[in-house]
Amino acid sequence: MAEPLKIALAGLGTVGVGVIRLIEANAALIARRAGRPLQVTVVSARDRSKPRGVDLSQYAWEDDMVILGERADVDVVVEMVGGSDGPALALARTTIEAGKGLVTANKAMIAHHGLELAAKAEDKHVALKFEAAVAGGIPVIKALREGTAANQIERVYGILNGTCNYILTVMEDTGRDFADVLTEAQAKGYAEADPAFDVEGTDAAHKLSILAAIAFGAKVDFAHVETSGITRLRAADIAQAEALGYVIRLIGMADTAAGGLFQRVQPHLVHCDHPLAHVDGATNAVVAEGNFSGRLLFQGAGAGDGPTASAVVADLIDIARGEVGAAFSVPVSELEELAPAATGHRLGRAYLRFMVADRPGVLAEITAALRDAGVSIESLIQKGRAGDSGKVMVAMVTHEGPESAVSEAVRLLDGSASLSEPPLVLHILDN
Ligand code: NAP
Ligand code: HSE
Repeated sequence: MAEPLKIALAGLGTVGVGVIRLIEANAALIARRAGRPLQVTVVSARDRSKPRGVDLSQYAWEDDMVILGERADVDVVVEMVGGSDGPALALARTTIEAGKGLVTANKAMIAHHGLELAAKAEDKHVALKFEAAVAGGIPVIKALREGTAANQIERVYGILNGTCNYILTVMEDTGRDFADVLTEAQAKGYAEADPAFDVEGTDAAHKLSILAAIAFGAKVDFAHVETSGITRLRAADIAQAEALGYVIRLIGMADTAAGGLFQRVQPHLVHCDHPLAHVDGATNAVVAEGNFSGRLLFQGAGAGDGPTASAVVADLIDIARGEVGAAFSVPVSELEELAPAATGHRLGRAYLRFMVADRPGVLAEITAALRDAGVSIESLIQKGRAGDSGKVMVAMVTHEGPESAVSEAVRLLDGSASLSEPPLVLHILDN
C-alpha cells in the first residue's frame, strides 16, 4: 500500500476528538477506500494536560499550532479550533503557504476568508476542503460541487444550525424556556464556543454564504446575508404557529431569481406538509433546486462529534486519493461578483406578532397601518393577557403580497406607544 497521508490535528475539542476516534475505529476500511492509510502524526490544542478521553501518547504534541504545516512529518493540516481570525486563520495561511493541504470545519473562517484561502490554495496547487463547515455530517458541499454540477441551481435553502433546531423542537415538544434548552444543547456539544453565534443566526449565515457561493458560482458574500436569530421567539409564537398548521424553523435561503444574490437567515413558519417541518432536534436539512435535477433534499445530523468527524475524514480521504479541485467548485477568478438582491418585490405571506397594551383602539391602530401599507390580513388572533404584564399578543397571517408592504406597515408603527416591543415579522415557507 502507498505511503500514509500524514495528518496534523489542530483543536482537540468535540470535533478534534471525534476525528481521532473515527480514524482509529475505521482505519482499515478508510485505508482501503483512500488507497493509503490516514496517519495522525501530531496534535495541538491550548492545554496539553487536559484529559480528552482518548489516548494521545502515540502522537507528537506541538505547542505552536501555527507552524504545524511547516513540519516535515505533516502532509495535511486539519483545523478544528474555530474563530474567523486569530490562530485558526494564521494556521490556515501558514499551512497553505507551506504547500500543504488544509481541511477545516470552521465556517466562520471560510465565510470571512475563504476566497483568500482558496486563491492561495490554487496558487500552491494544494487542497482546501471544508465539508464539515456546512451542515455537519451531510455531504452537501460534495453534492453541490459534484452531484449537481450539471445543473443551474435555482434556489438553495434549509435548516443549517443544529443548536437552533434542537432548541426550537424541544420548546415545541415541551413548552420549556429558551435559555434552559440552550444550556442542554451546549452540554451535547452542538453549540459554538460563543452560543450567540448559533441563536443570533450568525452560524447559519456563515454556512449559507458558503453554500450560495458554491451553488451559484458567486463570490462568498457573508456581509450581505440578512440575518435574524431565534432569540425573540416566545413559546406563544410556537403554539400560535402550530394552531395555524405550521412549525417554526430557522431557515437559511438563497437564490438569484432577481438577478442579484438573495441571502436570508430567519425563523420561518414552515407548513406542516413541507419536508423541512419534520426535521427535528440537531438534524439539518438542505434543499437544492436544480433546473434538471428538480428538488433534492439532503438530511442528517448537523452537529456533534461523530457526524462532523465523518465529514472531516471524507475530505481527508479525498486528499489521500489526490483530489485537489477548486474549493468553491470553480477557480476563484471565475466566481461572479453578484450584487445583493433587493427584497422589496419578493412576494410571500408573513406572520406578524405584536405585543400590545390591552386598551381600546390598539387593534384599530395596527390594522390601520396595515391597510395604509396595503397589507391584506388572512387571519388574526388576539390572545388574552400574558400573566400580570397587562400586555396581550396579537398575531396575524397576511395574504400573499410584496415584502415592501409589510416593511412599510412596520415603519408606520415605529415608535407607537401601543406596542411594548417592535413587531416580530416571520416569513412563511409553504412550498
Ligand atoms: P471546541 O470543542 O471548543 O474545541 C476547540 C479546540 O480548539 C479545543 O481543543 C481548544 O483547546 C482548541 N483551541 C481553541 N482556541 C485555541 C487557541 N487559541 N490556541 C490553540 N488551541 C485552541 O470546538 P468544536 O465544537 O470542536 O468546534 C471546532 C470547530 O469545528 C469550530 O470551527 C466549529 O465551528 C466547527 N464545527 C463544530 C461542530 C460541532 O458540532 N461541535 C460541527 C461543525 C463544525 P483546549 O481543548 O486545550 O482548550
Ligand atoms: N453550532 C453548530 C450548530 C455546529 O449548532 O449547527 C455545527 O456547525
